[in-house]
Amino acid sequence: MISFARGAPSLDIIDVDGLSAAAARAFASDPAGTTAYGTSVGYPRLRAWIADQHGVEPERVLVTNGSMQADAFLFEQLVHAGDEVVVERPTYDRTLLSLRARGARVHAVSLADDGIDTDALAELLGAASPIRPKLAHIIPNFQNPAGYTLSLAKRRSLLELAAEHDFVVFEDDPYVALRFSGEPLPTMLSLDPERVVYASSFSKTVCPGIRVGYLVGPVELIQQIAQLATNTYISPSMVSQAIVYEFCASGAVERSVETVRAALSERASRLASALRRELPEAEFTPPEGGYFMWVTLPEGTDASRLLSAADERGVTFVKGSDFLLEGGENTLRMAYSGVTPEQIDEGVMRLAAAYRAL
Ligand SMILES: Cc1ncc(COP(=O)(O)O)c(C=O)c1O
Repeated sequence: MISFARGAPSLDIIDVDGLSAAAARAFASDPAGTTAYGTSVGYPRLRAWIADQHGVEPERVLVTNGSMQADAFLFEQLVHAGDEVVVERPTYDRTLLSLRARGARVHAVSLADDGIDTDALAELLGAASPIRPKLAHIIPNFQNPAGYTLSLAKRRSLLELAAEHDFVVFEDDPYVALRFSGEPLPTMLSLDPERVVYASSFSKTVCPGIRVGYLVGPVELIQQIAQLATNTYISPSMVSQAIVYEFCASGAVERSVETVRAALSERASRLASALRRELPEAEFTPPEGGYFMWVTLPEGTDASRLLSAADERGVTFVKGSDFLLEGGENTLRMAYSGVTPEQIDEGVMRLAAAYRAL
């Protein structure tokens, strides 16, 4: 089975030796800190390293077991049943599930290839019966599932809307380091540190199994979430965080990011070429980084049927409708992170054969 479904790095681009060396250093250099419970804000050295990367005080940082845990804590703190929230359309399926499970009223605002439609959001906020969101969840770089990136102008517009209508911008940014073309853009956190809560992760740049992610936000909010985290699990995994700290402090993380970035860049262009060659009906905007490409097939194509036909031919993907509250029947998310260039060529040939057989 060739899988375009999983948004995770393949084993060949994970620095397993570097991680085991970092683990040995963690136990040798700080046996007490590595093996203790620690506290819910995370392993202090990693917390300080992350703070330094963002140019903020460590008090603004909380390190969690993966950024999914950071999302869950933030939603638990800020979003209650009946609260309105804004998400992108399409968006990360797990965010949708978790907001809906909390009873939030979710408004999905359409996403263009330069990010969320801020004019449409302004209309919703200024309508005769306006929406009053508590929070807007935004994946600014190489979005999951669409691969699109929020332009600087739209980052600024969004922050203006958030200030005017008093909502939090949740900047969910696990892919930021994996840019392969174009210029890096400032985080919204750096543009408005009191209005934005930022999350990122080592899952996509180091490995997901280590389960280390983090939140950066206003001190008071971070303190509240730290209390929630203490009540939930006492503390996150100090062993994992000490390993990530050693991996980062030694510079291995930069090599790891470069390995993943280079591989994904090659895989993304291989996927684009294969689709143009084998399945010219497919429409897509080549991503400037990250893990995903959003593919639209001609109106009337049923991605569920395509998925079954693809499955029979040994290739799989995620249907776009999984990332939407409604619609998107003719769309697919293709992750190129877990497949080699050769598998991409073969996988797209199988996908094209499945499409022709519909
Ligand atoms: C936008 C987004 N947020 C959060 C996550 C969760 O990542 P983690 O492994 O850090 O929990 C993912 C993983 O796919 C993601 O795409």
